[in-house]
Amino acid sequence: MSLVPPHGRDRTLWPRLVPAPERAERLARAAGLPPVPMTSRETSDLIMLGIGAFTPLAGFMGEVDWRRSCGEMQLEDGTFWPLPITLSASREVAEAIAPGGEAALVDEETGEIMATMKVLERYRIDPKYECREVYHTTDPDHPGVAKVLEQGEFNLAGPVEVLSEGRFPAQYAGLYLRPQETRDLFRHLGWSTVAAFQTRNPMHRAHEYLAKVAVEVCDGLLIHQLLGRLKAGDIPAEVRVRAIDALVSGYFVPGTCVQAGYPMEMRYAGPREALLHAVFRQNYGCSHLIVGRDHAGVGSYYGPYEAQAIFKQIPEDALELRPMFFDMTFYCFSCDGMASSRTCPHDPDQRLSISGTDLRRLLSRGDPVPEHFSRPEVLEILRQHYLAQEGNPSADHSPASPAQGGDQKRR
Ligand code: ADX
Repeated sequence: MSLVPPHGRDRTLWPRLVPAPERAERLARAAGLPPVPMTSRETSDLIMLGIGAFTPLAGFMGEVDWRRSCGEMQLEDGTFWPLPITLSASREVAEAIAPGGEAALVDEETGEIMATMKVLERYRIDPKYECREVYHTTDPDHPGVAKVLEQGEFNLAGPVEVLSEGRFPAQYAGLYLRPQETRDLFRHLGWSTVAAFQTRNPMHRAHEYLAKVAVEVCDGLLIHQLLGRLKAGDIPAEVRVRAIDALVSGYFVPGTCVQAGYPMEMRYAGPREALLHAVFRQNYGCSHLIVGRDHAGVGSYYGPYEAQAIFKQIPEDALELRPMFFDMTFYCFSCDGMASSRTCPHDPDQRLSISGTDLRRLLSRGDPVPEHFSRPEVLEILRQHYLAQEGNPSADHSPASPAQGGDQKRR
């Protein structure tokens, strides 16, 4: 048995990264091109294109792909694609580029030239249409919607040649694996069925349970952490990495799971984002994706199982990866173990579940967290983080999670 093929008709990974020896010369040339500043979301999407995680996309989407990915979850050629991957620009920036000309794509936060793009199209979008179709809301309080609404007036489209992966290779050495690298690693381990566990949080016992059920039925597990930007209040990536390390080293059998991180930014698009998670996990070589309760959701914009329901609405052959659905999981005192509403017949008052908000409150006050909720090693790391934050409330704004606000394209 071999690994699941990459997404798209060619069944081949298509990274857009320029080989390292050619980059210096390309960068020197790019410095003379008209610049297009990219927000953190756009920069993180560009890096996903660079490493082949968004195979078969060659660059930022043109108008037809934008419209069809929003409305029909397809590209122009019929390839399944559930969410638009676009680059916006102000009128001033867009008009400085000759049609068919090249532009330099620049990370607006660091000023680094990240890529060149052959600009084949310049078009206007209706941002509310995108928000309604993709996010199911136009509420500007939704963090993903807010970013669409504050985009520039135009979208620019065309194939990209990526010259840098930004901070990720150095900051997350060993964790930042490209799709070709996870595929090579899975083959080396002799795995053909691999379940991906998407996470943006430290793993508590409910997460551990989902992950271990997957280990029971697949050759291996990929704990795949988001390393891109989060919303305020989410645990910064470097704290989460340490917490997951502690869980894996203490509670997983060596050789059953691989940890890796990917550079994308959270959109909090719930069901549509769950589908995108499935597309790029297939590119990373995963045959399955764990989809639990409120996958990639935020607030109460999506029903707890909407991200599961959407997998039943897409064509059977849209993806080769298969989702693994889980009901809400919890510790049950009568079962004396982890369970879900599918496996636990007991009264709900026997069930221990703690919301993220409750947990933050307990940790920030130094109050005890029930032992069945999370492993002590994980809690200790989180407690240290909250203590440090108390002394330094801006600690969340560290470069590992620069997130938390200030993500507006400067125009
Ligand atoms: S997120 O990207 O989906 O927002 P998060 O870290 O919150 O990441 O959750 C990771 C995965 O675990 C998701 O598939 C989510 O649905 C699932 N999950 C988290 N908590 C539970 C729970 N108590 N019961 C069932 N699934 C859960």
